[in-house]
Amino acid sequence: MRFLFPALAATLLVAPAAAQEGVSPAPILTTPDARDVWTYARPEVARVTHVDLDLTADFQRKVMRGTATLDVLAAPGAEEIVLDTDELDIESVTAEDGRPLAWRLGADDPQLGAPLTVTLDDAERITVRYSSKPGASALQWLSPELTAGKQQPYLFSQGQPINNRSWIPTQDSPGIRQTWDATVTVPDDLVAVMSAEMLTPEGVAAGEGRESYRFRMTRPVPPYLIALAVGDLAFRELGPRSGVWTEPTMLDAAAYEFGDVEAMIDAAEALYGPYRWGRYDMLLLPPSFPYGGMENPMLTFLTPTLLTGDRSNTDVVAHELAHSWSGNLVTNATWSDSWLNEGFTTYFENRIMEALYGPERAAMYSDLDWDGLERDIEAAGGADAPTTRLHGEPGATFGQLDYFKGSVFLRTIENIVGRERFDAYLRGYFDRHAFQPQTTAGFLADIRAHLIEGDAELERRLQLDRWAYQPGLPENAVHVESATLAAVDADLEAFRSGAPVSRIDTQGWSTQEWLRFLNGLPRELPAERLTELDSTLDLSRSSNAYVRSAWLELSIANRYEPALPSLRDFTGRVGRGLLIRPLYAGLMEQGDWGKAIAQDLFANARATYHPNTAAQIERIITAPAQ
Ligand code: BES
Ligand code: ZN
Repeated sequence: MRFLFPALAATLLVAPAAAQEGVSPAPILTTPDARDVWTYARPEVARVTHVDLDLTADFQRKVMRGTATLDVLAAPGAEEIVLDTDELDIESVTAEDGRPLAWRLGADDPQLGAPLTVTLDDAERITVRYSSKPGASALQWLSPELTAGKQQPYLFSQGQPINNRSWIPTQDSPGIRQTWDATVTVPDDLVAVMSAEMLTPEGVAAGEGRESYRFRMTRPVPPYLIALAVGDLAFRELGPRSGVWTEPTMLDAAAYEFGDVEAMIDAAEALYGPYRWGRYDMLLLPPSFPYGGMENPMLTFLTPTLLTGDRSNTDVVAHELAHSWSGNLVTNATWSDSWLNEGFTTYFENRIMEALYGPERAAMYSDLDWDGLERDIEAAGGADAPTTRLHGEPGATFGQLDYFKGSVFLRTIENIVGRERFDAYLRGYFDRHAFQPQTTAGFLADIRAHLIEGDAELERRLQLDRWAYQPGLPENAVHVESATLAAVDADLEAFRSGAPVSRIDTQGWSTQEWLRFLNGLPRELPAERLTELDSTLDLSRSSNAYVRSAWLELSIANRYEPALPSLRDFTGRVGRGLLIRPLYAGLMEQGDWGKAIAQDLFANARATYHPNTAAQIERIITAPAQ
């Protein structure tokens, strides 16, 4: 049985059963599987329902400073509220009438930060005055050299999964949704944007050389979706409800690359129901952005490594847009359920790509994901490895298996029940759980109630529990294959039998064809073959970051030194984890030769990476040799 917060404990904490769109407080889940071990919050005692930020970005000191005013909904008799913080300097906590409230910071955990416990003393709204530390894990402060324009500094935040507590003291759990407002004050030659409705497109003078921007999110969201960026930003409209923000010199390229976005929104709505967030804008960031994309509501954040001039990487836009349903509307209750966000989204993303570009292009993405699925299962230690389970410890699903295995799970259901029936089910699913958290068990209960409806034969064929809870890949898994990529496989076969590289026609290849080719090449190649590849295909100088990364990975596996300058340039510029982690990991597999290079590259690049990425790379290059 799953239930919203039980009425006897605290009627106050319960939202209307059929949560109305955009109504706060949104329901929380209290089943044991919905307990989030990555938060200190105890929302059943007292919870935050609304966050009001008033912060100044101090680029000299690299801190955010100001106040967070939190609306508190407390159960009868509750005396305290517990918030998440990470390295915040707390100055004071006051009640709505200005009286000071007692507070204490608990022991600091390196991963979770420290609980901030505030004595409520009947307060319903509390104001925390604080500042972040210069090393805050959510924030990257970029010096001007790391931007496209090279004149102005830049700041951006990355909240998922639990970084936002390093700049916002609130209950930082995906199951505790909050509406929010913000006033952000920045130097007047910069522009602030956030994952919300922008109330002051023109910024309002806020004293000497400073301007304030105001934002409002009226739909309750999990706090990891609060995002901020500040820089020399310009905007270009792309459609009636879509547009792109970026530095002025990147605006034309961005507008071309993402020109299909409005059509994607239309396609997504036709599949799974209305887009419920108003506008869908994008922010194209500097290359140190650690992800391909991040689904910040109303303002997806994107890496500039998507810019290849041929729109072949807009699957990432489709992906982040799809999160407006799977993730932002129906949200994993804890990070153990991340496949409900990422697996659903990877499936949904592919359906958008199919709607826009047809089944063959969509099959290319799926087929490549299948390669990733097989690679990840192998790297996890094989089909019995516990980290190949979709549901497990938070963050424990290996590599991108929450994406790949999760999406193949949904594809398999689609194949068994038929597309029409599955689509109708998913539309209903997003409606039933809109603006609510969801667990793996909750999804299984929902699909049993609304799709399987007691059909024992169907239940047997689907193997839902096996998919959700067991390691490896069930035998009913559906592998979508692409004819375009099969043609690349034929080129690979020719290469393996000694054909010269010049015989391979790479003219007009998409990123996906390149990836199939480069990742399908034998891992061990003689230097002459590598030289031939590089000189014929100009790989070391490729401006396509995916191609560069795959080529460099192959070069490293062969200790091919002519590629080292390209490697140094790439790792010193690009901070997207997916493209650089394999390079450092590959170097570490090459004994002392690789280790020395990895350490040198990291020393050179560290300051350009987001704090989280820097920490990940540091773990890779200091891991004990295997
Ligand atoms: N939500 C993720 C990014 C993320 C995942 C941030 C885990 C923090 C922790 C985003 O939607 C995503 O999946 N990005 C992918 C792109 C996608 C097309 C595979 C990425 O960054 O590569
Ligand atoms: Zn995602």
